[in-house]
Order: sequence, then structure tokens, then C-alpha cells
Amino acid sequence: MYIKDIAQFEGKEIELKGWVANRRDSKGLVFINLRDGSGLVQCIADQSKLTEDEFNCAGKLGLESSIEINGLVVKDERQIGGFEVQVSALKVLQFTEDYPIAKKEHGIDFLMDKRHLWLRSQRQWAIMKIRNTITFAIHEFFQKEGFIQMDAPIFTGNACEGTSNLFETDFYGDPAYLSQSGQLYGEAMAMAFGKIYTFGPTFRAEKSKTRRHLSEFWMIEPEIAFCDIHQNMDIIESFLQYVIKKVLADCQHELNLIDRDQSVLKTSLEPFPRLTYDEAVAIIKGEKDVNGQNSIKSLEDELEQVNQQYQKMEAEIAEREAKLAIPGMKKGEINFNQNKVATLKQELKDLEEAQRNIPQWIASAKNFEYGNDLGGSDETVITRLFDKPIMVYDWPHEVKAFYLKRNPESPRFARGVDLLAPEGYGEIVGGGERETDEQKLREKIIEHDLPMEAFEWYLDLRKYGTVPHAGFGLGLERLVTWLCKLKHVRESIPFPRMYGRLLP
Ligand code: 4AD
Ligand code: MG
Repeated sequence: MYIKDIAQFEGKEIELKGWVANRRDSKGLVFINLRDGSGLVQCIADQSKLTEDEFNCAGKLGLESSIEINGLVVKDERQIGGFEVQVSALKVLQFTEDYPIAKKEHGIDFLMDKRHLWLRSQRQWAIMKIRNTITFAIHEFFQKEGFIQMDAPIFTGNACEGTSNLFETDFYGDPAYLSQSGQLYGEAMAMAFGKIYTFGPTFRAEKSKTRRHLSEFWMIEPEIAFCDIHQNMDIIESFLQYVIKKVLADCQHELNLIDRDQSVLKTSLEPFPRLTYDEAVAIIKGEKDVNGQNSIKSLEDELEQVNQQYQKMEAEIAEREAKLAIPGMKKGEINFNQNKVATLKQELKDLEEAQRNIPQWIASAKNFEYGNDLGGSDETVITRLFDKPIMVYDWPHEVKAFYLKRNPESPRFARGVDLLAPEGYGEIVGGGERETDEQKLREKIIEHDLPMEAFEWYLDLRKYGTVPHAGFGLGLERLVTWLCKLKHVRESIPFPRMYGRLLP
């Protein structure tokens, strides 16, 4: 019996096992918010309906005490989930005291240190449930489309995505790397099975703390034989829209719990604009407008608005603090004003962040040098102008991986594609059409200073029935972060591994 199914048991006696998420006492009554992993329900322990011992126990339950209860399910619209349970029996498995995560605000480092416990809180629960729906939808999409799921090795002798962020390990005395991507193996599997996808952990030694980078993340990598860059973009679009639709259909409760504004998720079901690198650069630099908006101008306007709002909020804080300083205010009113001031101060911090960021974005947009890769700020600048993901393709070959095919009509460009998520999130998919010519690949391997002997097996694929093929990689955590509109990728995975964090 799980709380999520409680509606089926209206008017019936049930047994629930779970943890105390909150407790509130009033005369002769103890209100327990019980969570069992599937949901949350208020249980009412009434002194007149329990033994003295049971009622005393109910009054001593600390946060996260583990209990079993029996009780009657009663409809009550005002309650979370629309039901409450009138307790008829209570058994305590463990009393707890001093649960470290109390209601009050904690700093992110503290919460990350307590990640093993933090996962129990509502918001984290909702994010992980959405992650689960996304994972399931990913498998569902590819399985329905006839892709075979295959697994690439994690120990590998090949650097797929450059040598700057490899984790090296000792493989029986020889160096081996933790896989940065399953792609090269995916290409071999696509030549054997036509359409495949891998879905496994991948590793990048990113020695900097950013909102977008993990050292260990999960990547979905389809690879398709007889597919070009444009067909690849078709697949990226329908795949991502399938996942978004699933989340909208199945996760309303969770999206509401985390206060996710869903408008952009809905407009993301419309076709994704496809821009060449050249078009994207012109937009970033403000040389080309999008839907009547200019990148630089709109940032300048926004900075102006932020500054105005900042002044307004500062004034409101001062006003409320002045009121609080006058003696004689009622307790309720003091609480109300204090809470309001705390919220406003939090919002001020967000505005301060915007005041720091926007000038940097303006500067990097103005100074963007044609031919460079897009950095985080450039991605932010361009994606803010769209209410849906965009795909940028045909990149200067120098900034992309060795394995990408050149555009036959203009070989300066490699046929890579990045999907950039809106709302400032930036790249969540990287992929492209693969080079099919053995000789051209050899040249690129030398140019990238990679050890040829480690790639001989990969070059075999171009000797024995080479065909046009393409694929992409989606970072699961980046997708969860965007769909949940999280500030930082670390909340999108149960136990994040990143620079400076190995525990818990
Ligand atoms: O763009 P990337 O490096 O592309 C590849 O690895 C290709 N071999 C994929 C392919 O074509 N099969 O990485 C793909 C995606 C990124 O768009 C991003 O979503 C995610 O992987 N990613 C990371 N996510 C979290 N932390 C990191 N350090 C990430 N690095 C890449
Ligand atoms: Mg990339």
C-alpha cells in the first residue's frame, strides 16, 4: 500500500509505512505529514482514538522518524493530495532527533554535504521523479523507432572528445581512460545493427566549477547508418519533443511542486529553428535580428529593467525594516514582514547576479570573434532570443571533433550540430554527420595529435562498407536541468561527481 494510490482507498482502513516529514501538535491532536517515497499525506493522531502510549509516541516523533500506521482514509480537499488519514494504530520503528535538514534555509554546500538525506525533501524528490520519466521516455522513443540499445565500454583506449579532459586509470599496468563518449563504439555497432543507441555513464575531467559541468554524467548516444546531417536534426527534434510531451503529460504534480513555468516547454513542441554557425554568429554579434529583437539591444534593455527593479526592491526592504524597528507591532505582522524582507533579500541576490552577468554577456557578444567555438555566454545570448531550442550546424572544422564530415560544398565547415536549449541553458546535445573517408580521418587524427594505433579499429569501419552515418549525444543531466529549470546541474543527478566533490 503506497500513498500515491490512496484515492482508491477512500473510506477504508489502510496500513502505511514511512517517515515523518513534518509534525505539528495541537490540543489532543498530533498532525503528522507522512512520506513513503511515493507521496505525502497528512495523518491525524487523535488522543481519544489511540492508546495513551501510542499518543505519547506520536507527540515525540522527530523529523524523519520511521513509523508504521493504520488508519481510515478520509477525503479532505484542503489537504495535499486531497485526502487525510485518521490514525487508529501507530508503531514507531525509530525515533529520531536533530535531523540536520530542518525547514529553515540552508546553504547549497551544506545541502550537498547532506545529499544522502537531502534527496528526501520534496523538491529533490520531484526532480528525481522527473528524471525518471525522462529516462523512461528516452528508451520508449528509441525502442518504438526500432533502435537497438547497446552498451559501450567504460574503460577505453581512445580519446573521443579531445585529450584535455581525460580521466586516466591503470588498466593492468597500461593506461586506460574512462569513456568520454560511447560514440566511436556506437559507429561500429550501427554498421552491425543499422540504428543503435547507447545510454551510459561518461566522464570528463572538468577542472572548473560551472553550472553546466559534471565529471560523471549520463549520455544517450544514438548512431544511425544511412543518415545525413539534416535527417540527424529531424531525429534530434522529434526525439526531444517526444520526451518533453511525456514530461508534460506525466509530471504535472512534480512540475508544480518545483514551480516550473511551463510556457516554454509548450512552445518547444513547435519546430526548432535551424541556423548555420554563420547565421548564429551574426545574431550573437547583433548584426542580424530575430523576431524583431536585437541581441545587444535586448540585453541593454534588460539591464536597465534589472537596475530599476533593484532600486524598487531596496526601497521596499528599507520601508519594511523601518516599520519593524518601531515597537508595538503584532507578532503575526512581525513574522509577515520579516519573511517578506528575507524573500526580497533573496530576490535581490538574483538581481545582483544579473547585474554582474548581463554586462559580461554584452561584452562577449560584441567581441565575439568569427571562427571561435561558442562559449557559455554566447549560448546564453542567442538562446534568450528564442522560446524553443535551436540547432546550430556547419561549424568551422577547427573547433569541432576529428570525426566530423566536412560540408562537401564548403569544406571549411564540419557537419556538426549543437542543440541549444532556451531560457539561457545552452548546449544539451552535440552531434553530427561522420567522416566516411579513411584518408581524411587519418589526416584529422594526426592534426589532433591522437595516437593512430589506437584508432586502427575505428578506421576499419571506413574500409569495409563505409556508408554515410550520423548521430548525437544528449547529456541527461543537462536535459533534466533545463526541463526543471534548475540553477545548477548538480541537483539533476542523485549523487553528483564534480570538481571538488566526491562525497557523499
Ligand atoms: O558535445 P559532446 O562533447 O559530444 C560528444 O561527446 C559526441 N561524441 C556525442 C555524439 O555525437 N555521439 O557531448 C554531448 C553532450 C553535450 O551536449 C552535453 O549535453 C553533455 O554531453 N555533456 C556534459 N554534461 C554534463 N557535464 C559535462 N561535463 C558534459 N560534457 C558534455
Ligand atoms: Mg559539444
